[in-house]
Amino acid sequence: MILFRRSADIRAHLQQFDAEGKKTGFVPTMGALHAGHISLIEQSRATNDITVASIFVNPTQFNDPKDYAAYPVTIPDDLLQLGNAGCDIVFLPEVNEIYPGGTAPSTRYAIGDMEYLLEGEYRPGHFQGVCQVVHRLLDIIQPDQLIMGRKDYQQCMVVAALIHALGLQVQLITAPTRREASGLAMSSRNRRLSSAQKEAATVLSKALQQIRQQLQPGPTGLLIQQAVHAIRAAGFESVDYVSIADAHNLQPVADWDGQQPLVALVAASIGGVRLIDNLPLSE
Ligand code: PAF
Repeated sequence: MILFRRSADIRAHLQQFDAEGKKTGFVPTMGALHAGHISLIEQSRATNDITVASIFVNPTQFNDPKDYAAYPVTIPDDLLQLGNAGCDIVFLPEVNEIYPGGTAPSTRYAIGDMEYLLEGEYRPGHFQGVCQVVHRLLDIIQPDQLIMGRKDYQQCMVVAALIHALGLQVQLITAPTRREASGLAMSSRNRRLSSAQKEAATVLSKALQQIRQQLQPGPTGLLIQQAVHAIRAAGFESVDYVSIADAHNLQPVADWDGQQPLVALVAASIGGVRLIDNLPLSE
């Protein structure tokens, strides 16, 4: 595995594969890797000649500076995991390499309502920051495929909108959420939980499963109330949202016709750690 810190160097290196017609898959990460990330590397390797991963904790997507400061950084372990997974190239830039002109955005990305819904409502500016870094990384890596995890369901939709808005040639591949045996969705943020909090956090996936099992055509409000109640009862100090939403545009669905494809999404905090999860309700 080869490690690059400078964008010009990795671009020059990747150029040779482009010239040879080799297919490149790209897995962007913020490090603190777990089996979910590794499954994205495996997904990339299955359909590409070269797999590139980036590790960059992007300051512009954190609306809360404390959250940015607390984000786990585990570079040596990350590199070990990527090497073992057969990743070919790692990009590990500093902030000024990604944002040579400073972190202030120079573009406003047209991603529609997605920007203000759910995560967008509770993390103002978050998705503009995600677009800013993904745009920059895509410009540097120029992959054939971009592989992202569906745990960040809304992020996948935002990146699809970004690719469309910019007319980029890259193909977005989304991979299923990896879960612990307890059902807890794997997340870098889980490292900040005590074992008791980790146990309590299994309520998120259970609440989503409950919604899926009990969903009937008609009003969805009661299912949402029950989920919020269960999450609070498990010890979460705040529940930003539980939403039963249209799977294609994330608009809340208050009254289900029994046909519309749905997804249930949740964001809640325990011990100051904000977790998200989601579950498609009709597959
Ligand atoms: O999902 C993440 O880890 C980040 O949002 C991403 C896509 C690497 C951009 O910083």
